[in-house]
Amino acid sequence: MRVAVLGCGTVGTALVRILQDRSDALAVQSGARLEVAGIAVRDLALERAPGIPRGLLTTGAAELVADPSVDVVVELIGGTDPAERLVRNALELGKPVVTANKALLASPEGVALRSLAKKHGADLLYEAAVAGAIPLVRALRESLTGERIHRVMGIVNGTTNFILTKMGEQGADYADALAEAQALGFAERDPTADVEGFDAAAKAAILAGVAFGYDVASADVMREGITAIRAVDVEFADRLGYAVKLLAVVERTGDDALSVRVHPAMVPKSHPLAGVRGAFNAVFIEGEAAGELMLYGQGAGGLPTASAVVGDLIDAVRNRLAGTTAPSPDRQPARLLPESELRTQCYVSLQVTDRPGVLAAVAKVFGDNNVSIRSMEQEGYAGEAQLLFLTHLTSEGDMRSTLAALSDLDAVERIGGLMRIVGEPE
Ligand code: NDP
Ligand code: HSE
Repeated sequence: MRVAVLGCGTVGTALVRILQDRSDALAVQSGARLEVAGIAVRDLALERAPGIPRGLLTTGAAELVADPSVDVVVELIGGTDPAERLVRNALELGKPVVTANKALLASPEGVALRSLAKKHGADLLYEAAVAGAIPLVRALRESLTGERIHRVMGIVNGTTNFILTKMGEQGADYADALAEAQALGFAERDPTADVEGFDAAAKAAILAGVAFGYDVASADVMREGITAIRAVDVEFADRLGYAVKLLAVVERTGDDALSVRVHPAMVPKSHPLAGVRGAFNAVFIEGEAAGELMLYGQGAGGLPTASAVVGDLIDAVRNRLAGTTAPSPDRQPARLLPESELRTQCYVSLQVTDRPGVLAAVAKVFGDNNVSIRSMEQEGYAGEAQLLFLTHLTSEGDMRSTLAALSDLDAVERIGGLMRIVGEPE
């Protein structure tokens, strides 16, 4: 089986290495020897890692895909252009495609690629696109295929979990924690996709498809990143018994709409997701019959991601030899819950003037906007006073009007943090 590898960066390099180092074992697993037909790159002059066969490198990705001797295509370029075109060309030729490209899969074009794969009877496999090495897509698609899933909540971005862990455990502020993540190679020089939640939103959209059978694109995902999280709110959360995590949440709501969202959340320390530290990923699944289960592991990095790619590659080859494809049930467009109707418990911190009547005025604003307070405490005095509120279940719309009205109060000097509380019974 001749394999076209498109992209030889972090993941592509690791994939080629595994294909070389474990060639005999992979042949036994697949039922055929896997031979790299070519490796498409952008720049032939770049220095490559030792062991990458220079003779296989090419800038002709389209020609490589179209080469009649190529049986399977692995797309590890990233982004939508030219990845979308290359994947589409491969599928139109009936060639199975393995990809780690969550940005592509969660774009409207990516959603269309699934139907194209079905039409041409070719596999489109993407285990590596969500949570790297964690066997999540296959678990949802196969082991849990008969399960009615209620909710999937994941820490699916290692960079932000690393930053939030540093803030929570060492009291680091956001900028310092980000700088350390960059120095250690977790965060990219431009960290926007990670810290603003775009990467997690793409993964949430993909999970909505695999776990719930609905087509969702990244742009439809409610998204809030971690850039506004202050060290002091992480510290308050810690004292109140919570860890702060950036969560991707996909859940059925009462009327069978789907809430698909990414936001910082306070998770009770007793919840399994609270113990996921550093750059690790974990996904917590709640099903009707299965109950609760959690998958944990490395969500990024060359070798962990390539491990998931290799698993898909073996599947694609086995299926091709058997003249079949992986299960790919039909999907429907999702009925997404409007953002204003999302109901969660919330944490709000306010910097206020410390004088009689302020708490009463603030509490009245919560009540006037239909938000019920669960608990309140004051931190600091005089110029340092902060009021920390936890609410009962409230709608996003009511919470937003509360914050707008609070910002008009003279006694409220600053609205600090707003975080949703997740993983705790009401
Ligand atoms: P890199 O940026 O490290 O590598 C991208 C590769 O694509 C490079 O080899 C580059 O060539 C090549 N490339 C870029 N443009 C073209 C083009 N027009 N034609 C041919 N080749 C091109 O990306 P990663 O390896 O980090 O990521 C690959 C995919 O895996 C992405 O979709 C990413 O989201 C996903 N992923 C990555 C993870 C990680 O930890 N890195 C984790 C999970 C998923 P050149 O080398 O010449 O510049
Ligand atoms: N940038 C992602 C992370 C890895 O930090 O987890 C790729 O999905």
